[in-house]
Amino acid sequence: MIYQIYPRSFQDSNGDGVGDLAGIARRLDHVAALGVDAVWLSPIFPSPMADFGYDVADYCDIDPLFGDLAAFDALLEAVHARGLKLLLDYVPNHTSDQHPWFKESRASRENPKRDWYVWRDPAPDGGTPNNWTSDMGGSSWEFDAGTGQFYLHAFLREQPDLNWRNPQVRAAMLDVLRFWLDRGVDGFRIDVLWHCFKAAGLPDNPPNPDYRPELGEKFAVLQTNSANQPEIHQLAAEFRTMADTYGERLLVGEVCLPVPSLMQYYGSDAAPGVHLPFNFQLLDTPWQARALADMIVAYEAALPPGGWPNWVIGSHDAPRIAARVGEAQARVAMMMLLTLRGTPTLYQGDELGIGKVTIPPDRVRDPQDLRQPGLGLGRDRSRTPMPWDGSTHAGFSEAEPWLPLNDDWHTRNVATQERDPGSMLVLTRTLLRLRRDLAALSLGGFRLIHADDAVLCYARAELVVALNLTGEAQDCPVAGTPLLSTLRTPFIAGMLRPDEGVILIPEL
Ligand code: GLC
Repeated sequence: MIYQIYPRSFQDSNGDGVGDLAGIARRLDHVAALGVDAVWLSPIFPSPMADFGYDVADYCDIDPLFGDLAAFDALLEAVHARGLKLLLDYVPNHTSDQHPWFKESRASRENPKRDWYVWRDPAPDGGTPNNWTSDMGGSSWEFDAGTGQFYLHAFLREQPDLNWRNPQVRAAMLDVLRFWLDRGVDGFRIDVLWHCFKAAGLPDNPPNPDYRPELGEKFAVLQTNSANQPEIHQLAAEFRTMADTYGERLLVGEVCLPVPSLMQYYGSDAAPGVHLPFNFQLLDTPWQARALADMIVAYEAALPPGGWPNWVIGSHDAPRIAARVGEAQARVAMMMLLTLRGTPTLYQGDELGIGKVTIPPDRVRDPQDLRQPGLGLGRDRSRTPMPWDGSTHAGFSEAEPWLPLNDDWHTRNVATQERDPGSMLVLTRTLLRLRRDLAALSLGGFRLIHADDAVLCYARAELVVALNLTGEAQDCPVAGTPLLSTLRTPFIAGMLRPDEGVILIPEL
């Protein structure tokens, strides 16, 4: 079980309204009490913060906003002292445009680091070298007047793409992994892994026949040539080999691709890939029992031999699960996340059921939203500060936080939920404790028992999970003794009440 911390929004310790490493260290009791195994920190490295840390200006240091290397070492020690693991966010596809490598690269066409990034001449008409579009909207190419060429950026123009075909880039970026592994980190979440290689010659991408402007310009073309090239698997194998030389280390790859392509990121015996290619399908599948059942069964069936599944219902990029499916169903979603087979990743704040938040227009910070306003692409809604208690600024900071709190923070906060046996926090802790105590829930096989328009029911070894995905009462497909219900009041035999999920010991 991995717990994702978004460091800007976990806990501020120095009164600047932005979270930091010392703040995380102060709140580790909450993390440990949840019963998670590992913590993944979104980027904490020096950064101009154009994309809030996913634009790295130095891979081997800590941004002063978050602390310094001594604060990092202290946090790592505190995490390990609680028997937890620490994963960092490794951002290999691109650096910041303020990284010294890029500053050198753009200094002249002859600079030895010119080829560390992807530079091309303008098209004969002076336009961009090809039709690729950035994931953040607009062209993937930015013209550099100083040297008369364009550079490639899959994301913001402040995030130039590294050229992974250059052996010096490869060596320098592998050194980064070594730096942190030597310091004692337990692994990495690898940012946009599938983007690192582009097709040789950079041919145009095919137009997307299903494109609608409201999807965002990213979807104007299919990313056939700009991402997911075969060479990536050799690179993933190199990352894996490096991690394996340090013993028990974990690599999680961010890979947003359809299942058949996703599975390739597990690698093969000859070239092992990452341990866990992130599985985002719970985020993308309609919240409907049959659709979810089909998706889960297809995912399980597609896993390669030895491939360990994983599940995600929230992140700093995705809308909050409670905003998407509603507060009552968010409890069902938590039971699903924590009872499916495989490693779950829980995003900070989802254990409180944080749902809709109001971000007034003058407080929008997400560059994706600012560049393509009105499309609902804003990620600030998932990045609001953790509400710890009912004190000023919810105990997050002494100053006004960098983003507003959830509207209902006075009642929806850690302290309040700790006192309420029926809260989402207590449900999450209970589910995690059951997962830890019962081998059926951690290691047991998955078998679909039943799915119709309303109910999803599956077995994990000798246990049964029955989930009512509707607001109406339904028959429970399996009779048995309840171990846990998502609702506050006792289980009623034979039925699933509205928005109820249960774990059962079935009658033989
Ligand atoms: C990943 C991150 C996202 C970031 C992007 C570019 O998708 O999760 O937050 O904007 O990569 O680095």
